[in-house]
Amino acid sequence: MTVVLGIETSCDETAAAVVDHDRRILGEVVRGQLDAHRDYGGVVPEIAARAHLDVVDVVIRRAMSDAGCEFCDLDGVAATAGPGLIGGVIVGTMTGKAIAVSHDLPFLAINHLEAHVLTPRLTGEVAFPYLALLVSGGHSQFVAAVDVGRYHVLGTTIDDAMGEAFDKTGKMLGLGFPGGPAVERAAIAGDPRRFALPRPLAGRPGCDFSFSGLKTAVRHAIEALPPGPLAESDIADLCASFQQAVGDVMAERGANAIEAFQSRFPDGETLVVAGGVAANAALRERLETVAEKHELTFVAPPPRLCTDNGAMIAWAGLERLGRGLTDGLDFAPRPRWPLEARP
Ligand code: KG4
Ligand code: ZN
Repeated sequence: MTVVLGIETSCDETAAAVVDHDRRILGEVVRGQLDAHRDYGGVVPEIAARAHLDVVDVVIRRAMSDAGCEFCDLDGVAATAGPGLIGGVIVGTMTGKAIAVSHDLPFLAINHLEAHVLTPRLTGEVAFPYLALLVSGGHSQFVAAVDVGRYHVLGTTIDDAMGEAFDKTGKMLGLGFPGGPAVERAAIAGDPRRFALPRPLAGRPGCDFSFSGLKTAVRHAIEALPPGPLAESDIADLCASFQQAVGDVMAERGANAIEAFQSRFPDGETLVVAGGVAANAALRERLETVAEKHELTFVAPPPRLCTDNGAMIAWAGLERLGRGLTDGLDFAPRPRWPLEARP
């Protein structure tokens, strides 16, 4: 049995998990930092780094004890080495390396984006090649996953990440941070037809997408409402209209992405959605419909494994360890690390 510890510290969750190669999550802890950042309306990198430093040991110890594991029971230690807020990434990487060196274990430097893209293989049987829509707070792309470590980006946002668009919309509507889950909750009671928001790049060839015009349109719609505090129904209708526009855009761009994927990888059978925004039920539903139309199986991990967590890092570590793709202790943490580039 191969068992790997995964450590995630690239944004505002300090997370650790112990996972085995039978896809069992033996122990898992996610500690958020929302209270530390709430007054600032977003994640403050210095505060995040210090908060990771304060709790990373405890989080790892709890995940290990929940798993009933000692460090000597592990076969490897995986840590997010980028991309992300560099202070946090340094904390996680240094901690992972320290555990690896002191217990003579292989170290696995994990690309956070790769971990999101590989998560559907932790939660089910998904064979390569597959098409992934990776949508998080910092990244949004259609990726052909050909094998572990082999990815082709087919399309990407040309401006804001999808999570960023949700967060900014939430912020404009006074829904706090992060906006994504709050926008989804508010949209349930809203009328998606009340506000006519744009569908950026609709009808254009290719599968790049764009959200900045949509965000601006939400701001204009808010400004056109009567002055004073927004009514609950206005907030709900705006959230529903925004979510509908995002769904329409991704259904249309998703169809193009699937066609591009199928022409290059005719044996591919699956569309997966991954990353924090993949927790959004409305988006999942839209993508499922597009996948079915193109005879692809649609796979979405459970929401708690879509947002940042340690299990996805441990799993990416297991996938890489199984292929002998270990890293040296001189591996430098990276604030930027495109999926296609791996020295
Ligand atoms: O992957 P993730 O946890 O962290 C990054 O790697 O960025 O993604 C966080 C993003 C945030 O922008 C958050 O608002 C968004 O995912 N998000 C959602 C939902 N849950 C999280 N967006 C829309 N609907 C949700 N239910
Ligand atoms: Zn993430």
